[in-house]
Amino acid sequence: MSNELIGIAADHGGFALKHAIVEEVKALGFDVLDLGTHDEESVDYPDMAENLIAAFKEGRVSRGLLICGTGIGISIAANRHPGIRAALCYDIDTAALARQHNDANVMCLGGRKTGPDLAIKMVKVFLETAFEGGRHARRVGKLG
Ligand code: RB5
Repeated sequence: MSNELIGIAADHGGFALKHAIVEEVKALGFDVLDLGTHDEESVDYPDMAENLIAAFKEGRVSRGLLICGTGIGISIAANRHPGIRAALCYDIDTAALARQHNDANVMCLGGRKTGPDLAIKMVKVFLETAFEGGRHARRVGKLG
C-alpha cells in the first residue's frame, strides 16, 4: 500500500519551517507534495493557500499543511473554500482537538511562532489522530 500524500504550502514567513519539517513528515511515513514557496522571497499567503486548495480540487490530496508567519492569514484564506476545515494550531493539544472535534483536513502553523521541534510533533499528532464523530459530526455537518 502506498503512503498517503500530504500537501504542504507556505509563504515566505513559513518557508523556513516548511523546509525544516518536510523530510520529517516523510519519516513519519507520508509522501509530501510540496506546493511551494521554495525560498524566502516575498509571496502572498492567499496564493500559497490556493496552491493547496487546487490540489484538493484535483483530488491529489485530501489533507494538508499550511504555514505563514503567524498561521492566521493562510488559515483565513483556506477556510474560504467549501469543504476545507483549516485549523490554526499552536500546541499538541490543539493539533489533537482539531482532528478529534473538528475533523480538520488542514493544519495551519505559524512559522514565526512555532519552532520545528514542536511543529513536527504537532504534525504527527494531527496526521495520526482520528475524528471522534458523534456530537461533533452533527456540528461539523452544519459547517457545510
Ligand atoms: C508575511 O509577512 C506575513 O504577514 C504572513 O506570513 C502571515 O503571518 C499573515 O498572516
